[in-house]
Amino acid sequence: VACLTNWGVLVLLGWGAVCRAAPDPTQRDSLIRLETSRQIGGTVTLTPAETKMDARLRWMKRREMSRPAFPPAMHFFKAKPLIEKSPIFALLQKMPKGGALHIHSSTLVSVDWLVSNVTYRPHCYICFTSDRSVRFVFSAGYPWLTWDCSYWYLLETLRAKMGDPAAFDNSLIQNLTMFTEEPDLAYPSQDVAWEKFEKKFVVASGLITHAPVLRDYLYQGLEELRRDNIMYLELRSGLARTYELDGSRHDKLWYLKTFQEATQQFVEDHPDFLGTRIIITVHRSLSVSRVKAAVMEAIQMQSDFPDVVAGFDLVGREDRGRNLWYFKDALLLPANLGLVLPYFFHAGETDEEGTDVDENILDALLLNTTRIGHGYALPHHPLAKELARAGNVAVELCPISNQVLRLVSDLRNHPAAVLMSEGHPLVISSDDPSLFGNAGLSYDFYQAFVGIGGLKANLGTLKELAANSIKYSSLPPHLKEAGLLHWREKWDTFISSNGNQSRTTKGFV
Ligand SMILES: *[C@@H]1O[C@H](CO)[C@@H](O)[C@H](O)[C@H]1NC(C)=O
Ligand SMILES: *[C@@H]1O[C@H](CO)[C@@H](O)[C@H](O)[C@H]1NC(C)=O
Ligand SMILES: *[C@@H]1O[C@H](CO)[C@@H](O)[C@H](O)[C@H]1NC(C)=O
Ligand SMILES: *[C@@H]1O[C@H](CO)[C@@H](O)[C@H](O)[C@H]1NC(C)=O
Ligand SMILES: [Zn+2]
Repeated sequence: VACLTNWGVLVLLGWGAVCRAAPDPTQRDSLIRLETSRQIGGTVTLTPAETKMDARLRWMKRREMSRPAFPPAMHFFKAKPLIEKSPIFALLQKMPKGGALHIHSSTLVSVDWLVSNVTYRPHCYICFTSDRSVRFVFSAGYPWLTWDCSYWYLLETLRAKMGDPAAFDNSLIQNLTMFTEEPDLAYPSQDVAWEKFEKKFVVASGLITHAPVLRDYLYQGLEELRRDNIMYLELRSGLARTYELDGSRHDKLWYLKTFQEATQQFVEDHPDFLGTRIIITVHRSLSVSRVKAAVMEAIQMQSDFPDVVAGFDLVGREDRGRNLWYFKDALLLPANLGLVLPYFFHAGETDEEGTDVDENILDALLLNTTRIGHGYALPHHPLAKELARAGNVAVELCPISNQVLRLVSDLRNHPAAVLMSEGHPLVISSDDPSLFGNAGLSYDFYQAFVGIGGLKANLGTLKELAANSIKYSSLPPHLKEAGLLHWREKWDTFISSNGNQSRTTKGFV
C-alpha cells in the first residue's frame, strides 16, 4: 500500500497501515498532482495568459470527447473532415510547432500539387498498368516501353480529348494517395495496407525524380510545412537518381546539391525558416555488402556536406525486412574505423512482440541511435526505455501513420500514451503526409494531444512537444539554441494573439 507523507514523498507500508482505511482527500490530490507532473510538459510553468488558453483548450477537449463521433477513435480517413471542423485543430494549425523530424522525401508534397502542377508540365507521359494503376515519365520523344507499360499517352493530348479532365485528375490523385472512403474494407490487414502503401511510391517516382521537378518539389514541400507553422525539417531521403528529358541521369550528389540550393533559396525568401537537413536512407531489403557501401558513402557525404547531411537510416517495412542486427557488420563500420555517422533508426514499428524485429529497438540503442523512428514497441521494453531516457534518445511518434498502417485502430489505445504520461522524450511527426493526407504536423498533433494524451495533456504538453522538436533535432548546439529562442518568440506571439478569445465563441478561427 502506498501512502503519501505530508511532505509529498511516497512511502511503502505493509497491509493494515493507517492510510489504507481512510484515504485522505488532500493526499489524494497531492498524488494526482505528483503523477501529472511526470507527464510530458508536466513541469512546464504556464504564464497567466497560457493558463487562460489552457483552460479553454480543456473545455473544448471535454466537449469534443463527449461527442458520439470522436475523431481519434475513428480511422483517420473518416476522422479528417471532423478534425478540420475542430476549434482545437484550428488552434494547433496556428501554433508554432517547431520542426518536422520524420518525413520521407517521396511523400513530402501534397498530391494535389503533383497533379495540378507537375502532370501539367510539357512532355509528361502516362501509362495505365494492368493492376489499374498508372505510371508517369517525362520524355523528349516517345518513352521506352517497360514490363508494366506497353503504351504511353502524352498527357497533354489525352486531356485535350477528355470530356471531364477534372474527374480524370481526381483519379490520378487517388492513384497517388492511400485515401479511400472505406478504409476498413480497403485495408483489412497490415499486409494489405503495406502492399498498397509501397505501390504508391512507385506511382509518384516518375514525377518527382524528373530533375527539373525536384527543386520545385522540395521548395513546395517547405512552403506547405511553413504554412502549417513549422520552421525546420529533417527529411529522410534515399537521394534518388533523377533523370532529364533525354533519359540521362544525375547521381546522388546532384540530389544533395539541389536539396541544398532549394533550402538556401527558401530560407532567403523566408528568413524565419531555420533550414532543413537530410537523413540518408537505404532500403532494408539490401544485402549487407550494399549497406556497407551505403554507410561509407554516407560518411563521405556527411563530411562533404556537414550542414546538410544529418545521418543515416534504414527504411522499408520492419516486420518483413531484415533487422538491424542482421546489418551489424555494416552499421558498426563507422565505430570500427574511428569515424562518425549519426544514426536515426526506424525501430519498433511493429506489434510482433518477442520476434527478432522486436529487438530492433535495443539494437538501435546499442548502435547509438540519435532518435528512434516510431518506437511503437518501446513501452514493452522496460530496459530499452530506461536506456533511451538516460541517453536522451527521443521517439519520433507518428500516430496517423501507425493507424493507417494498422498497428492500432483507436488512437486512445496507442502505446505512446504510456510514454506521454511518463514524460519520455518525444517528438510528433507525420511520416508520409502525401500518402496519408496528414499535411504538416497539425493533424498528428491533434491525435497526440486529444487522442493519445487524453484530457491530461495540456498546453504545457504542447509547448514541450514543440520545443522537443528543436531540442532533439540534429542541429549543432549553437543553431539549436538560436532556433529555440526563435521558436519561443513565435510561441509568445501565438499566446498573446490567441489568448483572449472568449470560450463561448465558436473557436479561434
Ligand atoms: C508549377 O509551379 C511552379 C512553381 O513552383 C511554377 O513556376 C510553374 O509555372 C507551375 N507550373 C504549372 C504547370 O502549373
Ligand atoms: C488510377 O487512375 C486510373 C486512370 O484514371 C483509374 O482508372 C484508376 O481507377 C485509378 N486507380 C486508383 C487506385 O484510384
Ligand atoms: C556508442 O557510444 C559508445 C560511447 O560513446 C562507444 O563506446 C561505442 O563505440 C559506440 N558504438 C557505436 C556502434 O558507435
Ligand atoms: C489579453 O488580455 C491581457 C489582460 O488579460 C492584456 O494585457 C492583453 O493586452 C490582451 N491581449 C490582446 C491581444 O488583446
Ligand atoms: Zn518512416
